[in-house]
Amino acid sequence: MIRITPSILNADFTRLRDEIARIPSADAIHLDVMDNHFVPNLTFGLSVVQALSGATSAPLDVHLMIEDPDRWAPAYAEAGAQSVTFHIEAARAPVRLAQELRARGARVGVALNPATSAEMVAGILGEVDVVLVMSVEPGFGAQPFLDLVLPKVAALRRMIAAGSREVWLQMDGGVSLETIGRCVEAGADTFVAGSAVFRADDPDQMVCQLRAAAQASLIG
Ligand code: DX5
Ligand code: ZN
Repeated sequence: MIRITPSILNADFTRLRDEIARIPSADAIHLDVMDNHFVPNLTFGLSVVQALSGATSAPLDVHLMIEDPDRWAPAYAEAGAQSVTFHIEAARAPVRLAQELRARGARVGVALNPATSAEMVAGILGEVDVVLVMSVEPGFGAQPFLDLVLPKVAALRRMIAAGSREVWLQMDGGVSLETIGRCVEAGADTFVAGSAVFRADDPDQMVCQLRAAAQASLIG
């Protein structure tokens, strides 16, 4: 099954509730939390996620690009996020953190930067619901897609298939109508798209087009 989870990073931050309302076809809303330490950019934190949680019925997919997720991530689950994703490069006790997030009712995601190997998450695949592969260096929207991550996506798909757990494989960064087919062929099934959606004349139509393009690659 294909899922499209648009990022609001390139949306109009003065009217986030309205921007979310423009994409009713989205499977979830991807929220990029950045702390200016793990990545060289600062976006928003818990208070904005709490506010959006009360302002929309859309599932919220929180992507934490922050240091010390062991300390900060559980509050995002308590805020009502459907899923909370932390970076394996930043977590000190990822298994414990995954269990704490699940205990608070969230789906659990683990993310890898472009140069982080698939083996880094091998030991935690039995504890997560989503693996997020960054296909740009995290920090900013609208960067070009890095094809060099595709062999890693394929390796992760094989590792997931060898296990008994259903784990979604999410691509994040530079996903567009031009790149989504290659991601599907490598084994991804869940797609973050920021600039492709919010720079389109009709964002919801772009969500539908991305889904259709992905499904066509799945069948083809
Ligand atoms: C990058 C973020 C992504 C990004 C996606 O650090 O994690 O979610 O905003 O934006 P595009 O689709 O424009 O690359
Ligand atoms: Zn993201």
